[in-house]
Amino acid sequence: MAAPGGVDVSVDSLQAPAGPAESTQTRPQFGSRFLTDPRQVFRHNAWDNVEWSEEQEAAARRRVEENSQPLAAEKQEEYDSRANEYWNDFYTVHENRFFKDRHWLFTEFPELAPNCTAHKSTARTTVGSAECREPAADAPPSHRNEAFPGTAASYRILEVGCGVGNTVFPILKTNNDPGLFVYCCDFSSTAVDLVKSNPEFDPARCYPFVHDLSNESAVYPVPEESLDVIVLIFVLSALHPDKMQKTICRLARLLKPGGVLLLRDYGRYDMAQLRFKKGRCLSENFYVRGDGTRVYFFTQDELHDLFSAAGLQKVQNLVDRRLQVNRGKQLTMYRVWVQCKYRKTLPLQGDEEIQI
Ligand SMILES: C[S@@+](CC[C@H](N)C(=O)[O-])C[C@H]1O[C@@H](n2cnc3c(N)ncnc32)[C@H](O)[C@@H]1O
Repeated sequence: MAAPGGVDVSVDSLQAPAGPAESTQTRPQFGSRFLTDPRQVFRHNAWDNVEWSEEQEAAARRRVEENSQPLAAEKQEEYDSRANEYWNDFYTVHENRFFKDRHWLFTEFPELAPNCTAHKSTARTTVGSAECREPAADAPPSHRNEAFPGTAASYRILEVGCGVGNTVFPILKTNNDPGLFVYCCDFSSTAVDLVKSNPEFDPARCYPFVHDLSNESAVYPVPEESLDVIVLIFVLSALHPDKMQKTICRLARLLKPGGVLLLRDYGRYDMAQLRFKKGRCLSENFYVRGDGTRVYFFTQDELHDLFSAAGLQKVQNLVDRRLQVNRGKQLTMYRVWVQCKYRKTLPLQGDEEIQI
């Protein structure tokens, strides 16, 4: 469902994503309600791991093609240069009402609280590339004497495009590692102010800052190779596609060897893409919403290429197809999300590339 401002907030309605997509994935405990008899579709609110028929895929492709006439260049430029104003307006209107309680965070991303046992039995595992629940390698000696927020921490997480803290506050609540430090940034100063004014905000464990991910000259407040985890949840899609690669490369440099980048975002032909009206397309698979905020819809391969080109290695790259049902209105909504984990490899030792 879209919020009044037009941003799709239904991304949180899932419990835990179901999509298997890769033969190397074992199924999680959640996400196992499968629709085997189409006549039963309105019996539940949601169905997991929905298979799309070729006709459905072709119809989605046609719909996207029909609506792919890009807006005029000057309009595009305006949406780009004023992007943070549109997000500021969004948070001024919605404030903390955009806050979501994300139960799936720790089942899907146990790296956010590696010492917390509660979620371990439900986490997906990836055969052949074991999930690492240990901190990544220590920062290289050159960083150890540098003073920066969270210098003394032993486990550092950065959430980029954090909004009002939908991920940050659950991490601070769930991860009770005394060595934890959480950085979070957004280019909306309104969002960052909302994080700081949240009663759960603790400056001893968390450092929020305003930052434009796509600005090549903007400096992060942490040194290179200092972070264990970087989180991008429904944020890369808000960037202009031309700026994504450099953004990911800059972020990858901040990861320690062995550190991991976690992403969940919109997938190609998600309902939100198919319902864009004519006149909202900026470029292929990239649109502007009614409130001026922008969104891209990814394929798995596109994300794989972005992360690989930044020197990261795949741990997980899956598509999560889910059918949500509005039983009252008898509506079906086909959602598509992509979820990725990519790891920075450890430095070469002899001839070998070390993976954990
Ligand atoms: C769909 S919201 C998701 C917010 C948050 N990750 C969540 O899941 O609740 C996208 C967020 O990305 C932020 N954002 C968009 N472009 C950005 C940029 N270039 N630099 C930093 N943040 C950006 C927006 O301000 C917004 O808070």
